[in-house]
Amino acid sequence: MKPARESWTTKLAFILAAAGSAVGLGNIWRFPYVVGENGGAAFVVVFLVIVALIGLPLMVTEITLGRETKKNPIGAFKALAPNTPWWLVGAIGVLAGFVILSFYSVVAGWGISYFFQTVTGSLTEGTDFEAAFFDHVRQGFAPVAWHALFMALTGLIIGLGIVKGIGRAVRYLMPVLFILIIMLVIRGVTLEGASEGLQYYLQPDFTSITWQTWLDAAGQAFFTLSLGMGAIITYGSYLKKDDDVPGSASWIVGLDLLIALLAGLAIFPAVFALGFSEADGPGLAFITLPAVFAQMPFGMFFGAIFFLFFSVAALTSALSLLEVVVAWLVDEKEMSRPKASALVSFGIFLLGIPASLSMGAVDIQVMGMPFFDFLDYLQETFLLPIGGLLTLVFAGYVFTASKTRESANENSTSFKLGVWFEWLIKYITPAAVVIILLAGLFL
Ligand code: TRP
Repeated sequence: MKPARESWTTKLAFILAAAGSAVGLGNIWRFPYVVGENGGAAFVVVFLVIVALIGLPLMVTEITLGRETKKNPIGAFKALAPNTPWWLVGAIGVLAGFVILSFYSVVAGWGISYFFQTVTGSLTEGTDFEAAFFDHVRQGFAPVAWHALFMALTGLIIGLGIVKGIGRAVRYLMPVLFILIIMLVIRGVTLEGASEGLQYYLQPDFTSITWQTWLDAAGQAFFTLSLGMGAIITYGSYLKKDDDVPGSASWIVGLDLLIALLAGLAIFPAVFALGFSEADGPGLAFITLPAVFAQMPFGMFFGAIFFLFFSVAALTSALSLLEVVVAWLVDEKEMSRPKASALVSFGIFLLGIPASLSMGAVDIQVMGMPFFDFLDYLQETFLLPIGGLLTLVFAGYVFTASKTRESANENSTSFKLGVWFEWLIKYITPAAVVIILLAGLFL
């Protein structure tokens, strides 16, 4: 007999785990650089609109589908629509988990490496932080080794299971991360010359918005909220029936937004005050923040703590990515959890190697971009938006919008979703995704 399926020990455990999944490199690393590539404050506004219009409704929907079925994404679609091809939506999710984690782990590895570089004092005042970053990722061996270490850790925790692994890890880590970001914001906005950065980040110039802005904002919203691939379906599947879905969803989205906005507030004043380029792409956080630390009293100390927590925030997100693939193997293929975790972690490690090398060590291109960028492009433009769209269509028309709303409202202690929610998931949210995808790709 299979052991009973685990569930979260408390209501808070679910919110923390799901927020732990959402809050990660997407907030601290990706959000600021995507803002920087899209012209600043106007992008932030577009992003907020997308989170309200697409992010929140999909968050509620995914949690509901998980709690309703108590299954991994593939199993969830199979349970609600047996003998139909809808399980393929879950399969896109499993594939997306694999793809995302392979480059995510590489970036997390940079974070671990920066932790050690800060501790050993090799990133102090006077360093050319831009050159230091590009030199670091261009090395062949070291980044791959850090990536291996990160995947091994992720695999180990997932091998241990939901309560002992994920539940315990996030309870302590989330609060500390929050305090550290606040400290960085205070240092950033008090730097001399910070106002130009604040203006860039907070004063929107709406003439700069194009369809591409909307597409990038949608991609960022799916990514940062962990939506569109069933990670939240999977976490929702470990909920007990008496948990509050609309309330939890609001908390998770709110916490995630807060951390992303604060990360931008920590980074942009420093970008301008210290003379970096806001279009430094994936290196932005790694270039700007060490420079800020170098200018703080006890900077080395705070820098070390920050990169430690950067890595930890990455870890709590990585857990949810790996969990989707592992839950599928455990639930559907009857594989043992430790074995599934080891196997999948190793596969993701392998896919991450060319991603890491393509940052400059070896010329590996797909469709005219480095393999690393290609994987990111694949998830942000196709896997997550299409996965999310099909999930909404499924909830709205196959499971039906009224049942989704009813199921989400069941045992809710905070607030109940009105009929407007059915309108949203049937018409408005899917239409928004379709328009943005088509216009972003073809206009
Ligand atoms: N949301 C996480 C972050 O911002 C990354 C992540 C975890 C994710 N699980 C996911 C992204 C599922 C997409 C889908 O860092």
